Amino acid sequence: MVFTLFNLVEAIWIILPAYAVNGLVPLVGLKKKNHPIDSGKSFRGKPILGSGKTWEGLIFGCFIGILIASIEMLTFPYLPFDQSPVPLTIVPMSPLLGFMLGIGTIIGDVVGSFIKRRVGLPRGSIAPLLDQEDFLLGALLFASFVVSIKIDWVLLLVVITPILHLIANVIGFKIRVKQEPW
Ligand code: CTP
Ligand code: MG
Repeated sequence: MVFTLFNLVEAIWIILPAYAVNGLVPLVGLKKKNHPIDSGKSFRGKPILGSGKTWEGLIFGCFIGILIASIEMLTFPYLPFDQSPVPLTIVPMSPLLGFMLGIGTIIGDVVGSFIKRRVGLPRGSIAPLLDQEDFLLGALLFASFVVSIKIDWVLLLVVITPILHLIANVIGFKIRVKQEPW
């Protein structure tokens, strides 16, 4: 069974730093003069990545990943996971795992933008599913280099992330952090 509360708790625990990175990285866009990773270069007449993918975003993403993972690591002893009727598989949080989740989130998102540009979608355009799954798969891939990831978490997160992402982005749009509600 993929859709259990136990899987949900375990999956949210590991992915929380990635969600925070993806949710907060638009904040660096509030500063106008950032440095695009692709240096503004094009490939066959289209931007390689576009000006929405910046070094500032990458560095900020790694920082947020480390920060949230460290908070989880420090609060772990005070959380009631041991009261679960089924023993939970709570991955040990660490700054290293936070870094991997952070950089994986950003690289997954960069790959998503690369694909969007190749098919001719401009920066900020909507690409349903790609926009929501790119960072998730990047984060899980990079996390899998340092901890073991259950396939149930992946399946559960692939299903729930687009829903949570849409809700979060509508909020980000309303509070004027995001320029588009996606
Ligand atoms: N951002 C950034 N650096 C990154 C990722 C994001 O500076 N590595 C900032 C940019 O200001 C970007 C905003 O966060 O506009 C929102 O991110 P996202 O939705 O991923 O980018 P888009 O502008 O929508 O561009 P794309 O179409 O390539 O996804
Ligand atoms: Mg976008």
